[in-house]
Amino acid sequence: MRPDTLAIHFAQDPDPSTGALVAPIHATSTFVQDEPGVHRGFDYSRTNNPTRRTLEQVLAALEGVRHCAAFASGLAAEHAILQGFTSPGDHVITTPDVYGGTFRLLNAVHGPKGLAWTQCDLADERALDAAFRPETKLVWLESPTNPRLFVFDIEKVCSIARRRGVRVVVDNTFASPVNQRPFALGADLVVHSVTKYLAGHSDLIQGAVLARDEETLAPVRFLQNATGAVPSPFDCWLTLRGLKTLGLRIARHNENAQRAAEFLAAHPAVARTYYPGLPSHPGHEIARRQSSGFGGVVSVELRGTGADARRFASSLRYFRLGESLGGVKSLVCHPASMTHASIPAAERARLGLSDSLVRLSVGIEDGRDLLDDLAETLGRCGG
Ligand SMILES: Cc1ncc(COP(=O)(O)O)c(C=O)c1O
Repeated sequence: MRPDTLAIHFAQDPDPSTGALVAPIHATSTFVQDEPGVHRGFDYSRTNNPTRRTLEQVLAALEGVRHCAAFASGLAAEHAILQGFTSPGDHVITTPDVYGGTFRLLNAVHGPKGLAWTQCDLADERALDAAFRPETKLVWLESPTNPRLFVFDIEKVCSIARRRGVRVVVDNTFASPVNQRPFALGADLVVHSVTKYLAGHSDLIQGAVLARDEETLAPVRFLQNATGAVPSPFDCWLTLRGLKTLGLRIARHNENAQRAAEFLAAHPAVARTYYPGLPSHPGHEIARRQSSGFGGVVSVELRGTGADARRFASSLRYFRLGESLGGVKSLVCHPASMTHASIPAAERARLGLSDSLVRLSVGIEDGRDLLDDLAETLGRCGG
């Protein structure tokens, strides 16, 4: 089955008891047992639930593997990986740009409990080599990164890490499995904020961890039940619904974002445009090689001040000012005061995360309306 067919058919045969075409929502906390301790594969919905299991099967198949654990949020999924694969005293290497919530999880949750971590330019092989320590347990890789869309050679990073016996986690949220398949490039674990492209309609929060084999996933699977941050059957059903149009949606996100990036890159009010689909992007060739589309997020640094960037972000018509990305409806965010505000200002300055940076999540509206919106708003408050 090819991915677009798989998203509609895989593990989703009509319900045998009723013939219902669409898999039902199994809204139940518990399952009646035939005898004490004898059940039909489900005993309690924190441990396992049929709607969640279907979702896990479809998500895994889309990433080209068979094992997935769904969580109540992307961060709950990340937390399970860090808890399951690291202990106090261990060390993690990550990218210079990393989602603000991931930064906070490392810095304010696991860091104080003894986990050391380093942000490293994974494109610089020598810097990456030097970043490894005997205690390094994971390389945590976003590509493209949030919010500046840096692209890293996933295959190369995986082969360097493998030589040292270190696992690589790829956060594939920005690309989605339609654009990029990290397991084929050597990743050991893939994590998603399902909230974004996979669910696709900005109407739920969810996460997932995927692995090639159940043995690798085991620590995460254990924590899924033991700590209980599981998604509701209804949210799993909504994601299954959203996934049926994933291929169509991503194609339109890619197309609209490419057009928006080309327009912005040529605009005098824009100092710098970050989009892997632009030939001027330093990771363009790698992105072409390792992904089949460049995604729906475009970030720009405006020429004006941080205040000008905030005014621009607040004045767009179709790009609604809000955190998140990956939904059908376009969104805009000012990372320094929104998604990445949990990174202290001095740290943001050190990382080059400018106050004049604006991140656009380009939706699937008619791309011409989106370009008109960008042009009119830049004309009014471009700085
Ligand atoms: C790249 C990335 N990873 C993880 C997350 C966290 O996911 P969630 O918001 O579903 O907890 C986000 C959220 O914005 C994200 O952008």
